[in-house]
Amino acid sequence: MKVARRVENLPPYLFVEISRKIAEKKSKGEEVISFGIGDPDIPTPPHIISRLCQAAQDPVNHRYPESDGLPELRRAIADWYQKRFGVAFNPDTEVLPLIGAKEGIAHIAFCLIDPGDTALVPDPGYPVYSIGTMLAGGRPYYLALNEKNSYLPDLRSIPQHIARSARLLWLNYPNNPTGAVAELDFFKRVVEFARRYGMAVCHDGPYTEVAFDGYQPVSFMQAEGAREVGVEFHSLSKSYNMTGWRIGMAVGNPVMIDALKRLKSNMDSGIPQAIQYAAIEALSGPQDCIPEHNALYQRRRDLMVEGLNKIGLQARLPKASLYVWARVPEGYTSVEFTTDLLEQVGVVVTPGTGYGRHGEGYIRLSLTIPDVSLVKGLSKLAGWRNKKLATSLKFS
Ligand SMILES: Cc1ncc(COP(=O)(O)O)c(C=O)c1O
Repeated sequence: MKVARRVENLPPYLFVEISRKIAEKKSKGEEVISFGIGDPDIPTPPHIISRLCQAAQDPVNHRYPESDGLPELRRAIADWYQKRFGVAFNPDTEVLPLIGAKEGIAHIAFCLIDPGDTALVPDPGYPVYSIGTMLAGGRPYYLALNEKNSYLPDLRSIPQHIARSARLLWLNYPNNPTGAVAELDFFKRVVEFARRYGMAVCHDGPYTEVAFDGYQPVSFMQAEGAREVGVEFHSLSKSYNMTGWRIGMAVGNPVMIDALKRLKSNMDSGIPQAIQYAAIEALSGPQDCIPEHNALYQRRRDLMVEGLNKIGLQARLPKASLYVWARVPEGYTSVEFTTDLLEQVGVVVTPGTGYGRHGEGYIRLSLTIPDVSLVKGLSKLAGWRNKKLATSLKFS
């Protein structure tokens, strides 16, 4: 059997070796604490589950859904954007429900990228931006995110010939994996840039509701002119602990929304309707769960950053997102350090290079770990020995 080149050419999955090592440790009965996955450990709020169960009982919802979603869901999404960000969308032409944001992110490349086209992709970044581009036959041009540029791409440093040929710019704030945030000024510059070069913008914002210390992330769609150049992907996964239900959305430019709708109507048959009703409940029902979850994540964030700094790993205090981005000790690469942590103390973190080469020198830790495991994981980390320095760094 010959597998198509587009699949053969996919980059190797960096996490495979880590998964193998975790399985090996566990098979020996050793405990492994994982800060790896950004998947909320808190259940979906009960009122959302009740609505889901109720809708699942109705035979109307046992049949094929429409591929562009229930009109009531598109209306609920538009109302949520109006209430949360003060941006009005036409629910019929500017809103498209998705089977999770990831699905739309991968598919939109097929709407905007022809073979040989360039997409500007942040590095480090959520891998689907570049994978989608490559599957569509395009080439990612990586934009470095680093401490110096506050993890915002320096649009002026993009060579003219690249900017002129790029069809699409990917952005993601609050950012995975760095936890960085962007303000409206930056998004306004993005709109100008996209207009100047005639490229589309896809902003991926699934973490806008996960924020700390009273901070309120903005939406790209709040920038004047954003709708002329781009769309925003959003998700119920992180805001309402609904990763397993698979529901998200795209909003914004009607031409891009229509292209995605047309592509998807040929590939999938929509979102199970009971899940759509659960999403309506999530977006229009009580929102108390959001500050409650954020208070919990904030407490974990503080514990984690303090713990990491104590053992000499410099960690940023993120204002938003589910992630802490920390420097690896001098002399280690991200993968070496990640491997060493797992082997020495049975703790899993994600190497920064899993998100691109500019992630070298960093690790990502997720806040979606129950408190008991978090505390245990931090105390295990405290026992880690820097063999390269032959010293032991311990909690004081
Ligand atoms: C930046 C980013 N975008 C999109 C997604 C996927 O979201 P969804 O669960 O809606 O597919 C994730 C999931 O981790 C993410 O980190």
